[in-house]
Amino acid sequence: MPSRTDGPRKTFLVTQALPYANGDIHLGHLLEAVQSDVFVRFQKQAGNTALFVCADDTHGTPIELAAIKRGVTPRELIAETWHHHVRDYASFGIGFDIFYTTDSDENRRYAEFIYRKLREQGLVVEREIEQYFDEREQRFLPDRFVKGTCPRCGAEDQYGDVCEACGATYNPTELTSPKSALSGTTPVLKKSTHFFVQLSKCEQFLRDYLGGTGVLEQEMRNFVGRWIEDGLEDWCISRDGPYFGFKIPDTENKYFYVWLDAPIGYLSSTAKWCAGHGCDVADYWGKDSDAELVHFIGKDIVYFHALFWPVMLNAAGFKLPSRIFVHGFLTVEGEKMSKTRGTFILARDFVRIVNHPQACDYLRFYFAAKLTSNASDIDLNIHEFCTRVNTTLVNNVGNLHHRTFVFIDRYFGSIIPDAAWDAGLAAETAAAAEAIAECYGRGEYKEAIEKVHALANRGNKYYQDSAPWALIKNDPSKAAEVMVTCANVVKALAVFLKPVVPNIAAVVEEQMQRTFSWGDCAFSLRNIPMGPTKKLVQPIMAEHFAGLLGTAADAGNAAKDDGMIDVDDFSRIDLRIGTIEQAEPVPKSNKLLKLIVNEGARKRQIVAGIAQHYTPESLVGRQIVFVANLKPAVLMGQKSEGMLLAAQHGGALSIIGPDTPVSAGAKIS
Ligand code: MSP
Ligand code: ZN
Repeated sequence: MPSRTDGPRKTFLVTQALPYANGDIHLGHLLEAVQSDVFVRFQKQAGNTALFVCADDTHGTPIELAAIKRGVTPRELIAETWHHHVRDYASFGIGFDIFYTTDSDENRRYAEFIYRKLREQGLVVEREIEQYFDEREQRFLPDRFVKGTCPRCGAEDQYGDVCEACGATYNPTELTSPKSALSGTTPVLKKSTHFFVQLSKCEQFLRDYLGGTGVLEQEMRNFVGRWIEDGLEDWCISRDGPYFGFKIPDTENKYFYVWLDAPIGYLSSTAKWCAGHGCDVADYWGKDSDAELVHFIGKDIVYFHALFWPVMLNAAGFKLPSRIFVHGFLTVEGEKMSKTRGTFILARDFVRIVNHPQACDYLRFYFAAKLTSNASDIDLNIHEFCTRVNTTLVNNVGNLHHRTFVFIDRYFGSIIPDAAWDAGLAAETAAAAEAIAECYGRGEYKEAIEKVHALANRGNKYYQDSAPWALIKNDPSKAAEVMVTCANVVKALAVFLKPVVPNIAAVVEEQMQRTFSWGDCAFSLRNIPMGPTKKLVQPIMAEHFAGLLGTAADAGNAAKDDGMIDVDDFSRIDLRIGTIEQAEPVPKSNKLLKLIVNEGARKRQIVAGIAQHYTPESLVGRQIVFVANLKPAVLMGQKSEGMLLAAQHGGALSIIGPDTPVSAGAKIS
């Protein structure tokens, strides 16, 4: 995908999958939202036009039944959900140009239009099929609403389409002892006529479409290619009423299956936006439009987007998707998100519980730092989250920003001096700009962030090696050069990070009194006053996440046991004796000391907040108690592999040690 920032302007229409209107936005949804939002923000920043379209996916039996359960109408339910979804996405800075609904007049019109075109092309056939019918509820049962025993492995209580025990897929009619999930009664088989799209007739079209171009990433293309090779089955696009959705024209009681009108939501939401902005929807979706249509979806809905959707668009004479980015699933602490384990994290709980003002920006950063263009799963791990954010944003980019501008404030009166910049660093930054733009355009955000990190590292090393604190005394004009150079590197870093963390870039924009477009990464600042220097980023620690994981479970336990732990809980804490071999201050910190602790078999580094109570020399040779199985953390750029124990009394601090000398590494129980 072309992504040059200096070529002719391009137009993108970008979508993310439409979330179902019967559930809350969770972190899995946000992974996708961040992936698409970064793409859109990058394109806009690069001077391209990008329209970012989304909507709620509102139709289908699960939504209707959820409404019944709540005692409201489906329309009341989806209206309420819409507000929640808009709020949740906004908390994470997802900048949709429109967030619409599939339950709209526009969507009905396009659904009917596309259906007519499919018929005209001879792609729709009618066929009588037998389906399970719940006589008590007087409705046909979707696959998920029939449960029974797996025909392959005999596992009980499995859904009608797939066995969670053995992974087999089948028809609900193949289940042994089927039951309706609605009423618990045994459903009966009933005949009904349905409409099918004959996908097999479109095989050649799909092969040509997917094969030739870069619509799908290579691995995904092979994957989808195998579906085509195995033979495509006809796709049933109708459902019997009662059904919450659009009635199929010229039928008694048939409705479009939700997956027919859902992707059409991309088109109808664009139409809605165009109508409000004096534009023509054909500029995006017209067969000959120059716009690139880019979809972001999860790996579970590839079949719909790579096969059904292009067939629908093609039949109706619309433009075909230019690129479909497929991401993997979000896991939490290495496990599938699960309500029972408390790892099913809702967007609004993340906002409410994580006790750090920049948590939402940091989540964007963390996701971006892990996203690639392939569909491997992505894990959210709290410790890794803290390490990544602190390493790149706080200790690298934030540090360069802070030390540079504090220096300029102090020695140059907050004016970037009038001096030449380092030509080598300017060239390196320009090269990085090109490479990073390329990565964003290809959906390789992980690589983009690695390059940003490398440049920030380079900036910090340059600062350190130049030693401006010494130059300012002996060679102030050289110090001026260093500051001009570092200020320009900081600006470039903010430009590069802006698609990912716009709020953090905005602090630099405010300081420099300009709105960064991509071209602003070029060195340009000299002899120019700066606004006040504000801290860009605050470190984040695991403690800030307290209560996020296992919220439900935690709350239950706390109520039961008043915070008491049992002996098993205690034994999980590995307390040991260590001997301090070295102690030294942590640069730029008046609280922290870096300790090298001998624990018998090995040595470990512990960073402790005791500098105001102990001098380094007084500690060498002392024995301490430390927590040996604490996950490592980074404090002021220093790795800390444990925590020593100390007692506080008044304002003083007293380190805990053994009564008599013991061998280093001894376990405490
Ligand atoms: N409504 C359909 C999409 C219709 S698009 C025309 C749907 N909705 S969904 O709410 O279930 O999922 C919306 C998107 O979120 C999908 O792309 C899905 O893959 C993604 N995710 C849902 N759970 C996810 C994770 N745990 N991790 C990452 N993405 C996940 O499907
Ligand atoms: Zn099975």
